[in-house]
Amino acid sequence: MSKKNIAVLVSGGGTNLQSLLDCQEKGMFGESRITAVISSKEGVFALERAKRHGVPGFVLPRKSYPDIASYSKALADLLEEQKADLVVLAGFLTIFDEQVFLRFPYRILNIHPALIPSFCGKGYYGLHVHEAALKKGVKISGATVHFVTPECDAGPIVLQKAVAVLDDDTPETLQRRIMEQAEWKILPEAVRLFCEDRITVKNGRTYIDNDKGESL
Ligand code: GAR
Repeated sequence: MSKKNIAVLVSGGGTNLQSLLDCQEKGMFGESRITAVISSKEGVFALERAKRHGVPGFVLPRKSYPDIASYSKALADLLEEQKADLVVLAGFLTIFDEQVFLRFPYRILNIHPALIPSFCGKGYYGLHVHEAALKKGVKISGATVHFVTPECDAGPIVLQKAVAVLDDDTPETLQRRIMEQAEWKILPEAVRLFCEDRITVKNGRTYIDNDKGESL
């Protein structure tokens, strides 16, 4: 297991970032460290969380760049400058193009607040995901951690966790339950597996090596 630099990309409150910081402090990632937090928005609380934990924060606003290509280049350049071995999208709501994937192939993890392939793809982010799940009337939703590939929310799935949908749920209550019961658990778990070199990607699927540690 090598020591990895982890860059976390955020756009908002950063509760998933907080779960990663807390897990790091409990020693879950071994020698690997969250070495940079990059936000697509200025003034978000996620940057404050980074500061409180002594992690350098960077702001890369989408509106400062004329198009997605120049934004993607700037993002990939910054990630390289920061020597990121793993990039974690933790509520990062800004679209980038395949340049970033090509420079960090199967080194970018994303947390999505639904059971992919349900309620995912363009337009499905944040509360919109939970609104769509409630409108459809699904009885189970959840969260998915997957590798990022050029196609939105379509990369190899690493971990998923199901969460019950209740009759009286609002998008907000469902979002909170999925965060508490699924996102804040499976995202750090996936980061741990990556840091321990236990995830293999083959033919669009992931395989987790359970021989190197306790079973999942
Ligand atoms: C989380 O629910 C995350 O799964 C979602 O945004 C929220 C960010 O919350 N991400 C997406 O919808 C990506 N398509 P946080 O800033 O408190 O971690």
